[in-house]
Amino acid sequence: CGITGYIGYRKAYPIVINGLKRLEYRGYDSAGVMMYDGDKIHLSKTKGKVSDLEVITNKEEERKKGNIGMGHTRWATHGVPNDVNSHPHFSQSGDLVIVHNGIIENYDTLRKELISRGYTFKSDTDTEVLVNFIEEIKKQEGCKLGQAVQLALNSVIGAYAISVFDKTKPDEIVIARLGSPIAIGIGKDNSEFFVASDASPFIEFTKDAIYLEDEEMAIIKLGKGIKVRRIHDDALVDAKIQELQMSLDQIEKGGYDHFMLKEIHEQPKAVIDTYRGRMLADKGMVRMSGIDNHMNKFLNADRIIIVACGTSWHAGLVGEYLIEDMARIPVEVEYASEFRYRNPIITSNDVVIAISQSGETADTLAAIKLAKSKGAFVFGICNVVGSSIARETHAGAYTHAGPEIGVASTKAFTTQITVLTLISLKLASKKGTLSKSALRMYLQKMQLIPNKIEELLKIDDKVKEIAAVYKDAPNCLYLGRGFNFPVALEGALKLKEISYIHAEGYPAAEMKHGPIALIDENMPIFVIATNKGHYEKVVSNIQEIKSRAGKIIAIVTEGDTTVKEIADHVIEIPETEEALTPLLTTIPFQLLSYHIAVMLNKNVDQPRNLAKSVTVE
Ligand code: G6P
Repeated sequence: CGITGYIGYRKAYPIVINGLKRLEYRGYDSAGVMMYDGDKIHLSKTKGKVSDLEVITNKEEERKKGNIGMGHTRWATHGVPNDVNSHPHFSQSGDLVIVHNGIIENYDTLRKELISRGYTFKSDTDTEVLVNFIEEIKKQEGCKLGQAVQLALNSVIGAYAISVFDKTKPDEIVIARLGSPIAIGIGKDNSEFFVASDASPFIEFTKDAIYLEDEEMAIIKLGKGIKVRRIHDDALVDAKIQELQMSLDQIEKGGYDHFMLKEIHEQPKAVIDTYRGRMLADKGMVRMSGIDNHMNKFLNADRIIIVACGTSWHAGLVGEYLIEDMARIPVEVEYASEFRYRNPIITSNDVVIAISQSGETADTLAAIKLAKSKGAFVFGICNVVGSSIARETHAGAYTHAGPEIGVASTKAFTTQITVLTLISLKLASKKGTLSKSALRMYLQKMQLIPNKIEELLKIDDKVKEIAAVYKDAPNCLYLGRGFNFPVALEGALKLKEISYIHAEGYPAAEMKHGPIALIDENMPIFVIATNKGHYEKVVSNIQEIKSRAGKIIAIVTEGDTTVKEIADHVIEIPETEEALTPLLTTIPFQLLSYHIAVMLNKNVDQPRNLAKSVTVE
């Protein structure tokens, strides 16, 4: 979910609503705003997107009045996405309003307790319970909003980022965080403040921001300033003001129809930004301070465990193939959500690598905490600077891909693979499993990758033609071997995420143990058949498909002739080392999913039911 808020001298409505649009990647099941006009609170909320909300607010200018406002865009956890369950939520008296991101686990007990005290509830949400719990404490203790929020949060089990407004004290907003990010933008001389799940809603207004840490709350007072306190012991925190690096053009579409397409096209630059300063190709050196400073941990590790979710998990699988192949260190790749609950064996001789674009994924964060508690060294690969995972890990490497807004991950994936490739090369050269000359060769070939991605992006029209042929297929198979097996999984994920076509990724040879039963003349099968990657074996797999009349769309190395004769369509990628091919083979799959989704009229950047950053388990 996404939270925005404003208190200051400007009209709050446009700031809050535009902020919600920028945060919509975090969830878009429903949206709502509250505006305070100095006398009344106006609440508007609806199932659907921020644009649906605007239809309501546009009907009545009253709803847009005032210099104080809060907004919310929701990814439903408790209660179906409907108008009533949408945020903001009022307390029973109508004085308090809350927006909330996260889950209150003991909400049922609190709800029963509040019902016994005469409270009634309009929605099924845990959030409405929380705001009434705060109101009840405020009444019982006769205290101010800040203290009531603090007392309430100390009795709550769960995760949250909240923002609360009290009509009876209209010069302040109280916010708090445990597990979900929240930032404050600070205007000149405390004349205005912005609140948001990330800084994107307020970057054109201020570059000064405070990010709350877990277990912290802030009382934001107009004209006075911000007081940050620790929730559990009330200690005052000296919160650091950070200067934002993000710029407005980074979070705008820049002439592209969709963020996803823009981000696909940003990959040549994103990969360069990722390896810049880390790769000294001429000297045959990789420099990564996060690894260099902890080299012994890596070299002496019994094994490396990679934890992640979604696309980042796929990058992790590529990492496994790379690290084992090059550096000969055993690697396991785990879904963070399984790892954290399956009582895994972790020792202080393990190194855990956590991969996360957002740096906020709740399961990945929990897996890190578990690994740390068992004494493992934890290394993070994140895109969002200063994110929870970046802070929670012992060391790490940023991907420097720039903000990724399309819900389907693209440039985050290729830049994660870039970092993992550098790590593998670094470890391999230190361990002596890769010669100096081989390392130099890889680095030189790595430097050519951005141009090769650029070349590949030019085949867009060809990919579009293929997309037009297969857009109505109900099912698709994606096959690959070796380094490109994870790319097959990622290709299938991209297609299902944005076009809702059922797609499965499989190791090419494993196909005969099940998926082959699905093959007939209606089944499109996307096969990666690069020239050095067990090529003959993949050609045999393609023959097996051909014998069952399946439609074959193959990704081959340029100049290929064998597969060209058998396949229905081929897409050529430029020549490179096999270990580097995932950075190229991924691109046509991204474009293909994109075009199919556009042709099917789907919402490419905000596919149904998904969210960019999943801060609940
Ligand atoms: C969500 C997103 C995916 C992403 C996954 C992990 O499901 O929709 O695109 O791969 O979370 O996110 P992370 O930020 O940890 O990489």
